[in-house]
Amino acid sequence: MLRFMSAGESHGEAMVAILEGMPAGMKIELNKINQELARRQQGYGRGQRMKIERDTARILSGIKGKTTLGSPIALMVGNKDFKINELPAIFAPRPGHADLAGAVKYGFSDIRCVLERASARETAVRVAAGAVCKMFLGEFNMRIESKIVSIAGETEQKQIRKKIDEARKRKDTLGGIFEVIVRNVPPGLGTYVHYDRRLDAKLAASLMSIPGIKAVEFGMGFALAGEFGSSVHDEIFYLKNKGFYRKTNNAGGLEGGMSNGEPIIARCAMKPITTLANPLSSVDIRTKKKRLATVQRADICAVEAAGVIAEAMAAMVICEVFMEKFGADSMISIKRAFREYAGHYKK
Ligand SMILES: Cc1cc2nc3c(=O)[nH]c(=O)nc-3n(C[C@H](O)[C@H](O)[C@H](O)COP(=O)(O)O)c2cc1C
Repeated sequence: MLRFMSAGESHGEAMVAILEGMPAGMKIELNKINQELARRQQGYGRGQRMKIERDTARILSGIKGKTTLGSPIALMVGNKDFKINELPAIFAPRPGHADLAGAVKYGFSDIRCVLERASARETAVRVAAGAVCKMFLGEFNMRIESKIVSIAGETEQKQIRKKIDEARKRKDTLGGIFEVIVRNVPPGLGTYVHYDRRLDAKLAASLMSIPGIKAVEFGMGFALAGEFGSSVHDEIFYLKNKGFYRKTNNAGGLEGGMSNGEPIIARCAMKPITTLANPLSSVDIRTKKKRLATVQRADICAVEAAGVIAEAMAAMVICEVFMEKFGADSMISIKRAFREYAGHYKK
């Protein structure tokens, strides 16, 4: 079983990840982890903090030389903005954020105690751990990529930038839709046998866990509900040198809770960033009097970065179901099991 856990606060000393369950004998390249961290910081519409931070990871355990030992891999990404104990207390919860429910739940009188952890800063170590998983998947020729589909309804890059500039000028924020694609996934990962081992369910949960994501669909997704079955189900073909294949991929590579051999395609909708420079109405949690919501340094739009995080989350899930099927002890044994399976499903 692959397990991932993160620790760390936005302005704490560091973000830390533990990835447990990766096999022994896998080559790890630190620069590939750092490249993914850099990608998470990019995108038009990001805030000031992205200029302060140039995230780099340190590997604390689980690796000797450049090779995994099969023991838990601990990764650390330091916060250059480490000042959690100097920052002022916050009392006006931001609509759309974890602020109010978090303060009520944990009994905090200072909302900073919530937002330090609820911040999307935590996703830096998801990306670091996801980069390790991507390296594993790369050993089997699987690739994951993401792209923006639309921002506030705009699909052309020029129009998207214009819209983000407009939002910046109006002290407002934007969301959008991005797509994640996983290529060269063998058929039969996940299973129809148990609800909680379905690959579509696992992927949906992990993508939905990204802060700000409000909807996830696979393939044609919601649009399937408006069509005749005969016009949307992907017909099955066979060629000797190619094996089974489809000419369409409306299912997004998933049937019966399993990969079907076609690219896995997920689309996610992200709500507009919650911190507004021109804040909405709120209530002071001490006095219960009307007050404007707290203003923090914030992004205007982070859809591109959310796509990079989604790649990492998808990588972790695909890694998990892949190792469920082919074993998890050593790269040698996994490769042997995979070769045997690949020979049989292509026949
Ligand atoms: C990459 C990324 C960057 C984000 N940056 C900010 C930000 O600067 N300010 C903010 O208020 N929310 C930001 N968010 C969104 C909040 O984290 C999110 O709206 C909040 O967690 C509440 O969403 P939820 O209800 O889905 O948890 C960001 C999200 C992501 C994925």
